Amino acid sequence: MSARIERVRDSSDMSSRMSDEVREGLQKRPLPELPSKYFYDDRGSALFDDITRLPEYYPTRTEEAILETIAQEVVDRVQPRELCELGSGVGRKVRLLLDAMAHRELLERCVLLDISEGFLIESARQLDADYPDLAVRGVVGDFLEDLPALGAGGGRLALFLAGTIGNLHPDRVPPFLRDLARQLDPGDAFLLGLDLVKDAARLHAAYNDSAGVTAEFNRNILRVVNTHLGADFEPEAFEHVAFYDPDNAWIEMRLRATRGMRVSIPGANLQMVLEPGDEIRTELSCKYTRGSLEARLPGTGLCVEAWYTDPDQLFACALLRRSHETIPSEEEP
Ligand code: AVJ
Repeated sequence: MSARIERVRDSSDMSSRMSDEVREGLQKRPLPELPSKYFYDDRGSALFDDITRLPEYYPTRTEEAILETIAQEVVDRVQPRELCELGSGVGRKVRLLLDAMAHRELLERCVLLDISEGFLIESARQLDADYPDLAVRGVVGDFLEDLPALGAGGGRLALFLAGTIGNLHPDRVPPFLRDLARQLDPGDAFLLGLDLVKDAARLHAAYNDSAGVTAEFNRNILRVVNTHLGADFEPEAFEHVAFYDPDNAWIEMRLRATRGMRVSIPGANLQMVLEPGDEIRTELSCKYTRGSLEARLPGTGLCVEAWYTDPDQLFACALLRRSHETIPSEEEP
């Protein structure tokens, strides 16, 4: 079967959004910020891929090991006919679930939501080649705003892996979960990958690798802003900063100016003056416990059905089930 690619957003829509988000982020004080989704151009995605293989970066291999253990059990509990993957790509992890579905002759449909059209076309092509009877839909969109484009649920197992939910400020997690639950029917399920609260030294090492790959990944966001908004950031003039904030249970990544400079970002209609030591926040990576996730579930229409971890409790896959509860509509502004 050949894949259908649907575009929720076109490229002019995407660049005007980038312009707004970058301007808004860099104007924040005391701490200017850049949205983490802009790490991932081709070079940034390749650097992230390198990160996943670093000895210090445990999340990817740990999540994969958990999924190897639980894929069949999850499929047997949920009995899904559709796998719906949000934004982390069709690697081995997604195939573990597809294979478990195929093994029970349940596998009918796969929906991929990703912001990169090129990436979706390539993923859909590979799925087509490997699962000839599978109906594949690719939706070019953003997991924060375009979930309605997934369409109605029913027989759906949604996946949001890699701990990407950690990039959302905890306050934005309940509305995100509610939006996702609206695309699920009662009985549908959601498998969510979460990096867990742990020893600060272990977390620190994972975001400050000795080979300096994470530092390069961090600086890449400036190259992306240069390319798309005509900015003149000098990535080499910034140092990588990543630290664990135990009060918020998150890793924060920043870029610190090593000297004074003036930066212009014409595509965002912005000029910036930086003093030596000034910082730009580039990422939050929130760490969870079962309790801190459960505290965000009331009112979302989702509840924890199973909680799977590795023996060292580094990472978790939470299996959430869509309840019969009606989800309150958006609060009035
Ligand atoms: C892809 C968001 C899960 O937070 O660990 C890796 C990104 N940043 N190293 C993470 C990342 C620095 C990663 N996520």
